[in-house]
Amino acid sequence: MPPEIEKVLISEKEIADRVAELAAAIDRDYAGREILLVGVLKGAVMIMADLARALSTPVSMDFMAVSSYGSATSSSGVVRILKDLDRDVVDKHILFVEDIIDSGLTLSWLLRNMNSRGPASVEVCALLRKPDAMKVELPVKYVGFDIASEFVVGYGLDYAERYRDLPFVGLLKPEVYAT
Ligand code: PRP
Repeated sequence: MPPEIEKVLISEKEIADRVAELAAAIDRDYAGREILLVGVLKGAVMIMADLARALSTPVSMDFMAVSSYGSATSSSGVVRILKDLDRDVVDKHILFVEDIIDSGLTLSWLLRNMNSRGPASVEVCALLRKPDAMKVELPVKYVGFDIASEFVVGYGLDYAERYRDLPFVGLLKPEVYAT
């Protein structure tokens, strides 16, 4: 474990077990249908890869990259699309896949944007959610873990582009981001 990590918040095994439970719930809900998984880069790469493999439901995968205007640490709610979907989504069952919902502003904008494209349905699956940090009401059907409003890294989540590759979700020592 890197010395900058204070402690493991959610272990690799806990993540794998929860992803399996989420996949089972999604399989039940989407029986007989196909899903277009839409990963929001870059944080969603790990949950996207693991969830896709845990699902029995047939899926296609696409990705969006977005950037929020405003400060680097808190999103403003105004989103710019850096990479859009490759195909149209008319009559598709969209499942957004996210690593974390913090203020909720990114997803709130993405949901409005996607719903305007004529899909059959749009739902959200997020590994992590910070209920205390949320600034908007969001219909999030599948949530892995609700966590406190702490700075977490690993399993896709970065600090200054590092630690995304850690197999667990951990807390960074405060001195790392205080400097
Ligand atoms: C993170 C995360 C969500 C967003 C959530 O992405 O993956 O997309 O922030 O924040 P919000 O709920 O406050 O809008 P980030 O912008 O850090 O980019 P990254 O995934 O490339 O790290």
